[in-house]
Amino acid sequence: MDNHGNKEFDGIRQLGNDLPAWYKHIFVYAIFVGIGYAIYFHGFSSWGTEEQYAIQMAEHEEKYPQANDLVSEDGSNPLRDNAEAIQAGEKYYKAVCAACHGLNAEGVVGPSLVDKEWIHGNTDSIVYNNVMLGIAIENTKLQRGPMPAHEKSLGSEKVYQVMAWLASKNPSLVAK
Ligand code: HEC
Repeated sequence: MDNHGNKEFDGIRQLGNDLPAWYKHIFVYAIFVGIGYAIYFHGFSSWGTEEQYAIQMAEHEEKYPQANDLVSEDGSNPLRDNAEAIQAGEKYYKAVCAACHGLNAEGVVGPSLVDKEWIHGNTDSIVYNNVMLGIAIENTKLQRGPMPAHEKSLGSEKVYQVMAWLASKNPSLVAK
């Protein structure tokens, strides 16, 4: 039809003009942008809900490392006898505790942690509190200075790892 479907009815004329070229170009362009966006979004971007969730969780953990604290149900060390924890614990012990308690926990300024003498108690829950919260100067028994808190510097998981290592060397550190 060369009149492009022109119709006239009741004096109203309908024109069958083509859409303007710029309009069609935008339409086709939008289709390609849409396809490209979908491929990028699903294949390459990190804009999806799950990726965003993972990113935000990672940021949160970095900001509040204590939020994922390892919690013991009955006070005993949940990492006792855990080979990986013992290995990690030795590393943290040597980096953080050895200066005061000796490289092999034999005692320097701080008392030995490998003998049977426990000034403040020898159960997991007591030792956990002593290491996490420290021993304030007024509660010390040796007059050799306070035992610093490690709640912030190490946090519960690493403290339990250090305790797992200590327990592997010293059977007098008991679970309960
Ligand atoms: C700045 C030195 C210092 C550092 C670092 C230190 N301690 Fe101590 N710690 C002490 C002193 C001093 C005492 C003894 C307090 C007293 O006189 O009662 C002590 C006591 C303790 C006790 C109680 C011992 C008992 O016989 O009841 C434990 C358990 C302990 N420390 C573990 C640790 C662990 C584990 C670390 C590393 C995470 C650590 N300490 C880091 C100085 C330190």
